[in-house]
Amino acid sequence: MVGFLDWFGRDIISVLDFGREDFEVLFTEALNMEKYAKSRLDVLGDKVLALAFFEPSTRTRLSFETAMLRLGGSVIGFSGTEATSMAKGENLADTIRMLDAYANAIVIRHSLEGAAKFAAGIAESPVINAGDGSQNHPTQAMLDLYTIWREFKVIDGLSIGILGDLRYARVVNSLVQALSYYRVRLHLISPELLRPRQELVEFMESRGMKYDWTNDPYNVINDLDVLYVVRIQRERFPDPMEYERIRGAYKVNLKLIERGKPNLVILHPLPRIDEVDFTVDNTPQARYFKQAGFGVPLRMALLRLVLGGGS
Ligand code: NCD
Repeated sequence: MVGFLDWFGRDIISVLDFGREDFEVLFTEALNMEKYAKSRLDVLGDKVLALAFFEPSTRTRLSFETAMLRLGGSVIGFSGTEATSMAKGENLADTIRMLDAYANAIVIRHSLEGAAKFAAGIAESPVINAGDGSQNHPTQAMLDLYTIWREFKVIDGLSIGILGDLRYARVVNSLVQALSYYRVRLHLISPELLRPRQELVEFMESRGMKYDWTNDPYNVINDLDVLYVVRIQRERFPDPMEYERIRGAYKVNLKLIERGKPNLVILHPLPRIDEVDFTVDNTPQARYFKQAGFGVPLRMALLRLVLGGGS
């Protein structure tokens, strides 16, 4: 029987460490947490969460922090290493050892692929991956699935388009992996240069996922229930000239969504740069700010499941 106990004390490194039943437990708990997302549920009063953000973040860091505070817990941590001993040359392993000594769980974001897994190998406390390079961002994918589930009440049977930087966006990697537990139709949409990496293609093949790829959203827009958009991951481009060539290569605007189903849902992990026109924000299809808002109850549920705090 899958339940609270299956999450307790676990690291969250990749969505592939979890399964569909785990997600069901998480979503049920997140729905329950929505009641407390603007108030307080004092269940983690004796716990401290460490936030180790080596890369920029707004939503992920602040929603984890808010979630922990709403649960009555406390938060320590840093954003950027300027004010930490890493600026003196301390290594990642020693920094993690210290956070492990101080806190009950560690949330880490780092530009290096595998950094969270490395940290989990060192720390005894649970480690939560808040993004490692262009590899994984499991809690974002859980939030994305939760939003889809909240919007449609199901995930099976939906037609989902993912538009943007399919090559470097870790959110795409984790989302596609998470969707492999469901029977969905995937339409991947990107400029040729930003096609998904071979590993992801091989993953979809190995899981027998139904997917296709196009460089033109107009080819598939009328089939979509969900259009998930990601920005071009400028900081991951090995060559800035390559970014200059591709910037502004795609845009979601009113003209595009008018061709879609009336109940199309547009999601985006944010930050948005210029790939979704501001005029789209006022349409009923735009749900990305609502999606970001679900970050608090979803992460409250995650923290409660991983750190305990009753059922
Ligand atoms: C994403 C990330 O950091 O990978 N942001 C987020 O966590 N909401 C997506 C992005 O930066 O484009």
